[in-house]
Amino acid sequence: MKHSKVVGQGYYVPDSVVTNDDLSKIMDTSDAWIQERTGIQERRHLGRHSGQTTRDLGYKAAMKALGSANLKPSDLDFIVFATLSPDYFFPGNGVLLQQDLGCDTIGALDVRNQCSGFIYALSTADAFIKTGMYKTILVVGAEHHSVGLDMTTRGRGVSVIFGDGAGAVILQANDQSKGILSCNMGSQGEHAEELAVLFPGSKYGWADEYNDAHITPEIIYPVMNGTFVFKHAVVRFAEAIDKVLLDAGKTMDDVSLLIPHQANLRISQFIQKKYGLSDDRVFNNIQKYGNTTAGSIPIAFAEAMEAGRIKEGDLVCMAAFGSGFTWGAVLIQF
Ligand code: UT7
Repeated sequence: MKHSKVVGQGYYVPDSVVTNDDLSKIMDTSDAWIQERTGIQERRHLGRHSGQTTRDLGYKAAMKALGSANLKPSDLDFIVFATLSPDYFFPGNGVLLQQDLGCDTIGALDVRNQCSGFIYALSTADAFIKTGMYKTILVVGAEHHSVGLDMTTRGRGVSVIFGDGAGAVILQANDQSKGILSCNMGSQGEHAEELAVLFPGSKYGWADEYNDAHITPEIIYPVMNGTFVFKHAVVRFAEAIDKVLLDAGKTMDDVSLLIPHQANLRISQFIQKKYGLSDDRVFNNIQKYGNTTAGSIPIAFAEAMEAGRIKEGDLVCMAAFGSGFTWGAVLIQF
């Protein structure tokens, strides 16, 4: 059976830095509160009027990944694009990226699994490679959160956390028993509305509702029951990590670097402590970028590669939890 090897990676974040102090000028929050509860110091915002969208973020990350793999868009067989902030309600961003890259008319799949989106996307791409269906797949996670956050005190419990950015990797089929060793994905839809954007949709309304008073802040902005999400996150992160290790016949002692989805530094620290990992075995960058949802793991991975934190022979574990609820993990042998 073929294995999926990571042959390239890249990330892109907008230039515009928004600090916690910047936020405290427009809503009732503070640098102290945000750092103490989340570890975040700043994030990047494209904003609403930059002329750029999720499409552009994904494209820039994809081009960097292709460059690092020494590949051209015409070498790709398939695209998987994970985002919760697509350019349109439909079609998804995969086809937009296919056009922007000038690829042949290859398939482009959209993944809507929010913070677990990149893990779902990577696992799906891995399955296509293992079956022999595709040889070279571009996997992208990108978010343009700043276009849809409630930047008033009413939305502070959510809006201080999220940032914009994108990351991408290229997976390629190879015959060695390296690359992705195991993956898993989980979900629990009974908690769908604990972290969600409810409108537009067939439950809370669609076209007609745009013209009447049904559009309230509660349904157009993200809602999050933060404490509830936190409690589930720490349990499911560990569940996904334990399973991905067990399935590959490995233990945490074999893992050189854990790349958790950057949801909250306190969640990463909880997981780090649970497994007794030293600081050099966990990669965090939420301090600089906030939570970039589907972008967070590929951005962190590309930064870790750039910083020389991953070397040939290393075993890397990526894990995520988020809206859905959804969760999952991927184990990669370099
Ligand atoms: O990636 C997707 C998955 N998402 C997550 O994993 C998020 C998980 N949850 C969290 O990270 C945390 O729950 C938060 C960071 C979102 C919130 O931290 P918390 O310690 O759970 O705070 P809280 O929601 O219980 O709020 C505590 C207080 C409240 O005031 P009262 O009711 O005690 O007077 C909030 O109104 O903090 C207030 N608050 C704020 N104060 C200043 C909420 N947001 C802010 C804010 N600045 N930005």
